[in-house]
Amino acid sequence: MAKIRVVSGKRSTGELHLGHYFGALKTWVSLQDQYECFFFVADWHALTTDYQDPTLIEKNVLSNVADWLALGLNPKKATIFIQSHVKEHAELFLLLSMITPVSWLERNPTYKEQLRQLGSATLQNKDLSNFGFLGYPVLQTADVMMYKGGKVPVGEDQVPHLELSREITRRFNHLYGNIFPEPEALLSEAPKIPGTDGRKMSNSYNNCIYLSDSKEVVTQKIMTMVTDPARKRRQDPGNPKDCPLFDLHEVYTKDESVIKEVEKGCTTAGIGCVDCKKILLKSLLPWHEQYLEKRTSIMKKPSFVEDVLSEGSKKAQTEAQKTMGEVRKAMKI
Ligand code: TRP
Ligand code: SF4
Repeated sequence: MAKIRVVSGKRSTGELHLGHYFGALKTWVSLQDQYECFFFVADWHALTTDYQDPTLIEKNVLSNVADWLALGLNPKKATIFIQSHVKEHAELFLLLSMITPVSWLERNPTYKEQLRQLGSATLQNKDLSNFGFLGYPVLQTADVMMYKGGKVPVGEDQVPHLELSREITRRFNHLYGNIFPEPEALLSEAPKIPGTDGRKMSNSYNNCIYLSDSKEVVTQKIMTMVTDPARKRRQDPGNPKDCPLFDLHEVYTKDESVIKEVEKGCTTAGIGCVDCKKILLKSLLPWHEQYLEKRTSIMKKPSFVEDVLSEGSKKAQTEAQKTMGEVRKAMKI
């Protein structure tokens, strides 16, 4: 039995923030020790929604990959590359588009939801009536099939896409022979990471703590972050369950006794939110500084990230060419 392969991508539509780390990257880093992994920047996918102004996509590619490396992805273990550098993805996308019914794509809940959100803060001024956006899951399926991915670490929001990938894969195997495994979603239990305003941390809400933020900026964002609204005055008791800041304690503050102290202090008004935030910073800042140091040392040699990517693209392309050989033969093309 060949080793199970893990495949996943991330769109380069913004700078990475803490939500990205706890929601995805942390899982990727742990998977690289257990599986043969292919991780890539899905710049073509970013283009399906941001085609009107692609400058940001390009700017984010190298920066995102530098973050991945600083967070612990290891190019000796995982194959790290850019989707658009491996042109085979486009060919497989085209071939899969022949066997994908349009009705499957129109039924896709993520697609319908995004169209519904048009005009909202998330998708301001975007025109998504383009063919590429409808075909988004087909390209995603090509990404996974290309490396015969068996497991796909993704967030909850990607489950409908994975379901479509399974259907398209099944249809391919049925029509042309059993070549591909049916990919399974690997859902990590992502902790809740709220932004500074208490809503989900998201680039479109302007509430993010970015990985690239300096120590001072992180401190300032934490010190002004919203807390339990019940604690209007210092003497009002609160409840950590109603406090977005406490969600951050849960991921950063490893010492159980400190957590207990915070809970008690909050519910009895024994400590104020300012005290509580300082306690959080004691556990968060050392982690953040360690990351910043790693990132700085990576950026010292500007060609390092580029070398990782060209090496990764070469490795990915070798696999992609093998797969495309099989696909062309099976489809008699
Ligand atoms: N659609 C994914 C997202 O937005 C990104 C992605 C592109 C992807 N291709 C993929 C994820 C292949 C997993 C496998 O998060
Ligand atoms: Fe939140 Fe801490 Fe303030 Fe309680 S004391 S409301 S947990 S910041």
